[in-house]
Amino acid sequence: MWSFVVLAVVSLASLSATASPDTTSFRAFGPQGVNLWKLKAAREQRTKDSFASKPFEKNSGQHPLSTVPEPDFPEHWFTQPLDHFSNSSHTFGQRYWINTRHYKPRADAPVIVLDGGETSGVNRLPFLDTGIVEILAKATGGVGVILEHRYTGESVPVENFTTDSLRWLNNEQSAADSAYFMANVQFPGIDEDLTAPGHPWIYYGGSYAGARAAHMRILYPDLVWGAIASSGVTHADIENWRYMDIIRRAADPECSANLVQSVGFIDVVLSIPPLRVALKQLFGLSELEHDEDFVSLLSSPMGYWQAKVWDPSVGSTGFEEFCAALSKPLGQDALSQDETISYGAETQMLALPGGLNIPKVVYNYAQYIKENFVSLCPDGVSVEECFGTYDDSTYQDTSLDATWRLWQFQICTQWGYFFNAPPPGTPSIVSRRLTVEYDAKTCRQAFPPGKQFIVPPMPNISAVNILGDYYIAADRLAIIDGEVDPWRPDTPHADEAPLRADTVLRPFKVIPGGVHHYDEYGLRDLSAEPPEIEKIHLEMIEFVTEWLKEWQPPKRKN
Ligand SMILES: *[C@@H]1O[C@H](CO)[C@@H](O)[C@H](O)[C@H]1NC(C)=O
Ligand SMILES: *[C@@H]1O[C@H](CO)[C@@H](O)[C@H](O)[C@H]1NC(C)=O
Ligand SMILES: *[C@@H]1O[C@H](CO)[C@@H](O)[C@H](O)[C@H]1NC(C)=O
Repeated sequence: MWSFVVLAVVSLASLSATASPDTTSFRAFGPQGVNLWKLKAAREQRTKDSFASKPFEKNSGQHPLSTVPEPDFPEHWFTQPLDHFSNSSHTFGQRYWINTRHYKPRADAPVIVLDGGETSGVNRLPFLDTGIVEILAKATGGVGVILEHRYTGESVPVENFTTDSLRWLNNEQSAADSAYFMANVQFPGIDEDLTAPGHPWIYYGGSYAGARAAHMRILYPDLVWGAIASSGVTHADIENWRYMDIIRRAADPECSANLVQSVGFIDVVLSIPPLRVALKQLFGLSELEHDEDFVSLLSSPMGYWQAKVWDPSVGSTGFEEFCAALSKPLGQDALSQDETISYGAETQMLALPGGLNIPKVVYNYAQYIKENFVSLCPDGVSVEECFGTYDDSTYQDTSLDATWRLWQFQICTQWGYFFNAPPPGTPSIVSRRLTVEYDAKTCRQAFPPGKQFIVPPMPNISAVNILGDYYIAADRLAIIDGEVDPWRPDTPHADEAPLRADTVLRPFKVIPGGVHHYDEYGLRDLSAEPPEIEKIHLEMIEFVTEWLKEWQPPKRKN
């Protein structure tokens, strides 16, 4: 989905501030201004995309790393109205993939559908092959489906991503797509009519799509027999400081302490003009004009937390590497190259030219940022061009390549989640200079008023929260979250939300040590999964099986 076209220098800045609850793919989650983190993630994603798509092409032989023949999941298309709430005849093709390996024709055969959310459906194909869709389809003899979300991947209904062209990208239209699909799709190669409500549909989503899963059960109870909201962010919020606070509390205590100390120190020094420049210079960022952009870039490595997955073949170890870099002993060779810096072993402080004394950990932080982020800024391009976010012209690419605009539009209109520092009194691993205003300015820069649509000054988060917020509940709606998921504060498992009983009819489960929708990933052999993942999968099989036992075909209306 991310293409290298996007990586023109200009877009480094324009990628900033895009924050999406789902990062396993990547695009976009992230602390504000994770420009380069995203750049890197985009690169990784691109690798993954091409990796994932190849084995699924027709006649494509075998997965390069595996001797097991890969399944063939060709793409299919379903015709959707562009606007479900008008009589316009404009339609578009919505892409989907099916897994029929385990399907047994029966009057009560289920369909397990996974909402692709805010990224290309291609990124979800592993969940059709060995992840949660395969697991539930196998257990129930049902058909598994990945349904690509409108505007993402190739399910793009418009010719560009201007403000006006994006006006059909919202929760209401997307939920209506899913409902219309469930009620009308005729799966290729399957003779039976499996549409809802004539067959039981189980709707699964992770992250943003997890909120959608919960919403679908509320909005379309006759079509959605059961739903599973994994890391489902049913609470939209303007502020998202709790995201960083989860990381602070869950990370290795030494690492958290290092971060709190570093950013506290940096915030103080930034307010002392003669020292401010020396500090930014240490990070290789003296030419970066705005201190908000500077501290925003420093928050980029926090994004690695969310990219963790229990399966080492897909998870990131970036966060641990970052922590290790902060606490490593001072490299003598690094120091001796720069004779102007001296180190007091007793005080653990370095003396920089110009009279700035900095803690060792800040020095390490600076080296890490220089090596891993600043170095990605191409030669001959200024750090302002790479990491600055104040030049409006960097946001003006409205072509279909500018896919960062999609989730950005959704947060600007309905979801919020602007990354800001916690309130005073709560320790912080990110700078106090990170504010809602700073993160939200992208909305004005990227989406000037159109002729047909105007992005509101602040997103209308009540459009989400009115559907249940922390309290969303229904029979056969499962709520599954990760204990240390930075998005947990926006789910029904938030500390602010009431505790609930966990029942088969209303499952309410936390995966110990889990990060972001950990249950979505799976291995073909469940017993080879870590115990807490195998456990949640077995529990999911159990409650879905129980739900399906309750299913009755709807009475025909005459
Ligand atoms: C759609 O068409 C019907 C019948 O012509 C009309 O009653 C209805 O108001 C129209 N709806 C919209 C949203 O324009
Ligand atoms: C975007 O697409 C619309 C509809 O196709 C078109 O009218 C408009 O001129 C396009 N705008 C830009 C900037 O490409
Ligand atoms: C926000 O969304 C809600 C729910 O869709 C709607 O009732 C309300 O009018 C919207 N508020 C504004 C200011 O548009």
